[in-house]
Amino acid sequence: MLYQQLDLPPIPDDLKEQAWSRVNQESVIFNRHVLGNSHGRSLFKDGKFFGTSTGLGLRKISDEFDQWIRSNIVLDFLHVGLCVSDPSMDHSGPHRDQSRDYALLYLLQAGSDNATTSYWREKPGVAAKNHSDYDDLDLLDQVVIPLETWYIIDAKTTHSVENIKQGRITVQIGLSQVHKEQFMANM
Ligand SMILES: [Fe+2]
Repeated sequence: MLYQQLDLPPIPDDLKEQAWSRVNQESVIFNRHVLGNSHGRSLFKDGKFFGTSTGLGLRKISDEFDQWIRSNIVLDFLHVGLCVSDPSMDHSGPHRDQSRDYALLYLLQAGSDNATTSYWREKPGVAAKNHSDYDDLDLLDQVVIPLETWYIIDAKTTHSVENIKQGRITVQIGLSQVHKEQFMANM
């Protein structure tokens, strides 16, 4: 399973407003330690420069928000927060998440009408790492994740997001392998 749509309740309007209010606020980014080699790197495709990769910093929304997630979506998780891409950058380049094995996603703003999440496999002989050159990779699958719909995604298979130049804003919940198994068993 690389990704799957889930039948879970929508985020209520008042909590969605709390999340939106964090977009332009300085707030604690609690995955900063793993963003270093992701944000700002140059990407290449078809032998040409393909833009700069945005890292996806994860900000705390509120204790009230976390509590609603625990009561309505998933009891145990690694982190929950709001992810805001840098709108000057059109891609989150190929990477594997370091801080989690799976993520629950809920899109508030896609980044464009054609914002696409792609999964990749390294070509034979290419080492697994954060790739900056798409030519090292073969496409496995692609999905356009719809707005305000819960998805679970595999975060450890190399993935990227393209066409997000209007800024991509998502609520994200990080899960370990154990959290994911507990969660799927209770669905
Ligand atoms: Fe990711």
